[in-house]
Amino acid sequence: MIGIICALKEELEEILIFTENIKTENHYPFKFITGTIFGVNCCIVLCGVGKVSSAACTQALILKYHPDLILNVGVAGGIDKNISIGDIVIADFVVQHDFDASPFPGRKRGEISDLNLIKIPCSKWITDKLLVCSQKITDVNLHVGTVLTGDQFINSKKKLYELKNEFGGKACEMEAGSIGHVCYLNKTDFGIIRSISDNADENSLPNFEKFVKNSSKKASLLLAEFIKFSRD
Ligand code: ADE
Repeated sequence: MIGIICALKEELEEILIFTENIKTENHYPFKFITGTIFGVNCCIVLCGVGKVSSAACTQALILKYHPDLILNVGVAGGIDKNISIGDIVIADFVVQHDFDASPFPGRKRGEISDLNLIKIPCSKWITDKLLVCSQKITDVNLHVGTVLTGDQFINSKKKLYELKNEFGGKACEMEAGSIGHVCYLNKTDFGIIRSISDNADENSLPNFEKFVKNSSKKASLLLAEFIKFSRD
């Protein structure tokens, strides 16, 4: 079974368009949607925004459904000059940019104390397979890189330059790092697909509102190709 986590209902709706044999199960506070996508068993769940909700949801998904892998699918802010709205970013690493235990000697900003890691690696086979599958999607620019997660909607050039200088990375959003963290702790394979809805700058809010649906669709198209490829 493939576990699929998204934070926003706009993201979920695009995935449900190609989900069949839908059943829902409530494991409070989350509603899990089981079904098939191109014949492959999937469990799809709306986690809500932010690191806490997404971490709790990921742990519940793992304990209740034991997925073989988890994909986080949705939108993000682009943080690199050559990344435009509508592009897709496949993560190779995730970072929690607002994790800060640096007052402790030897600790760096972003370093997850219990793991001694700043960058959590996504499962390489998933990143590689997503890259192969992305060739099937026309008219989309694709990037592979670090996705930065924090409990903040980024809407200033100053903040995004700070993030970029400190951690590098291609996109910022609010769940991938915590989903990756929980998967890493549970030894569950995971991958991240994000399509760019805004540039994390002063126009990020109106752009997000304008492009969230279209960018969610693009992310779900790559998910669909991945699942088709898993079945073949
Ligand atoms: N998700 C989409 N755009 C974002 C932004 N600018 N900051 C954080 N999360 C986002």
